[in-house]
Amino acid sequence: MAGDAFYITTPIYYLNGTPHIGHAYTTTVADVLARWARLEGRQVRFLTGTDEHGQKVLQAAEERGLDPKAHCDELVVVWKNMMERLSISHDRFIRTTDDDHVAVVQAVLQALLDKGDLYRDEYRGWYFVRDEVFVSEKDRAERIAKGDATESDFRLIEEPNWFFRMSKYQDHIAELLRGEAGLVLPENRRNEVLGFLRQPLDDLCISRPKSRMSWGIELPFDRDFVCYVWFDALLNYLTGTGYHPASPDTAWRRWWPANAQLIGKDILTTHSVYWTTMLLALGVALPEHIFAHGWWVSGEGAKMSKSKGNVIDVDLLIDGFGLDAVRSFFLREIRFGADGQFSYQSFLTRYNADLANDLGNLLHRALSMTTRWCGGVPTRGSPDPGLLSIAQKTVTTYRGAMDALQLKEAADAVFDLVGAGNKYVDVRAPWALNKAGRAAEVAATMRDVLEICALAATLLLPILPGKAPEMLVRLGASEDHAKRWVPMLLRGERALDLLVPGATLTVGDPLFPRIAEMPAPIAALYDLSAAPPGTALEESTVPNETPPAPAKADTPLPDMSWIEIKDFQKVALRIGKVLTCEPHPNADKLLVLTVELGEARPRTICAGIRQAFQPESLIGRNVVVVANLAPRMLRGVPSEGMILAAEADGALDLLTVNAPPGSAVS
Ligand code: MSP
Repeated sequence: MAGDAFYITTPIYYLNGTPHIGHAYTTTVADVLARWARLEGRQVRFLTGTDEHGQKVLQAAEERGLDPKAHCDELVVVWKNMMERLSISHDRFIRTTDDDHVAVVQAVLQALLDKGDLYRDEYRGWYFVRDEVFVSEKDRAERIAKGDATESDFRLIEEPNWFFRMSKYQDHIAELLRGEAGLVLPENRRNEVLGFLRQPLDDLCISRPKSRMSWGIELPFDRDFVCYVWFDALLNYLTGTGYHPASPDTAWRRWWPANAQLIGKDILTTHSVYWTTMLLALGVALPEHIFAHGWWVSGEGAKMSKSKGNVIDVDLLIDGFGLDAVRSFFLREIRFGADGQFSYQSFLTRYNADLANDLGNLLHRALSMTTRWCGGVPTRGSPDPGLLSIAQKTVTTYRGAMDALQLKEAADAVFDLVGAGNKYVDVRAPWALNKAGRAAEVAATMRDVLEICALAATLLLPILPGKAPEMLVRLGASEDHAKRWVPMLLRGERALDLLVPGATLTVGDPLFPRIAEMPAPIAALYDLSAAPPGTALEESTVPNETPPAPAKADTPLPDMSWIEIKDFQKVALRIGKVLTCEPHPNADKLLVLTVELGEARPRTICAGIRQAFQPESLIGRNVVVVANLAPRMLRGVPSEGMILAAEADGALDLLTVNAPPGSAVS
């Protein structure tokens, strides 16, 4: 497919709305696909923008005493800022007030009139002001009964209007939808549309009399009317290609049919019925895919809206966790197509799990261990065959998933690779190899781990446009290198042979520092402070009763100094994550660790385990800490807790638990 053109669109957003994670989601997903297509070497056109006409915009402008266009010019900045904050790489931000778009809409209207597909008639019906659509009596009653709307949201309107002969195309579009599995995705949405098309389709009212609503594109053949906002808005996708129905210029065909038109499930009918029949009427090909994704809902399961006060503000998330955290959360948290329940808590948990613990940790281990033991340069060599096959499979899975618009599967493939990388380090134990003086094996291990980081960073470029390039720089490469690597990877070559031998590595600070507590502005706003992650769970509420005597058995239990539960409850055991680990400056047997317990600051703990462990090997491990052992000084260094270890045959191991720092052990 390399070299092919790739055209991708998002819905154009209502200018009057407040940007929130729903809008950010569609736009980010489109951006990931656009960035990947560019890496694949395709010519990309990525269109997003704002929907600026219609009743609500006019009303809002009037309330502010502004001319509607001046009102739009002010509000559009908010949407452009959202794109910028999310690092959206669109090629054009289209506004339905743009001159070329107005010209296209008018020319399309004229062409359809000339073709006999538009006619004027009397209209009588209920108008649902909030969504700017006419609805049937039944629909109106249902919305009111469900509490989605009140009587005052509807107006009974009787007026002359212009209509598009949509019903004429009903059978044709139903047939196409039945025949082309990929036209509307996912499959359940296609079935929904086919179900809808089993009812007779009305013609579409495509005008509004200026006497009632003047903020829109004037019908070129009847100046008393403006175009219905949806009919105008949908055409943005063609304007974005350079299309004009009366122009002989065919350059727009380079981009059309669009490869992917991403929408939310709320606008499925307008796209899979209105839009597709408009295209049929114009004799223009249908897009390859219209993909309707699910909704992000907040805690109670309601769709986000400003009036419900449950809007998740993307700015707060970016401020608190960074742009890449938001983008990777979008992809990893839900399957593309499914609904997602947003919670700040799961956001924080995912940040720490995916980015701090997995990806950040792998990179940090790779860079610091190589620097320490291998002179800080990757060497050349043959990769471990098992790891190589995982890496090759990652590329194939990732690419296939991207092609199929399965964004989560693509992201999961990379994070699985990262997991395999961390496991490889644990199994190969380069610290032990180093201690045993097996330098060649240390070098080979570290080389493989660095290569995994390079491959992961390359495949993460579309998802993490902030940090993936920085990963590459730390690995002694750059985004330009990665661009050259992708074609080789796609040919099935060099999956673990990317890095430039001898390039200088930069260890630096952790790329994704662990965030133990909910960032204050979010905690304050949503009153989440009561339960930040990393907080010790409630003390166990085991009743304070006499323990039963040890079970009678043939073999007696060893004689223990039995304690009661209340004695055990005096010991506060907590999970801690080892952040740093160094030899004690004045004691041969001690290591000095800093351990994160989800408290205001990490603790310093001295542990008598230096004979058993290389300091680096402990970094990132989640250990069990006696947290209420009175602090004391050990040879001039404070020790604020004790780490639990197990001894078997003279070898020590630390108790390791896969739970977040601060979790209580009971
Ligand atoms: N202006 C129309 C679209 C015209 S396209 C020719 C419109 N605008 S909108 O501002 O309401 O944006 C709707 C789109 O925003 C949805 O289709 C979806 O892409 C995104 N989302 C808005 N809220 C959402 C969620 N709560 N969850 C996920 N995405 C949703 O409709």
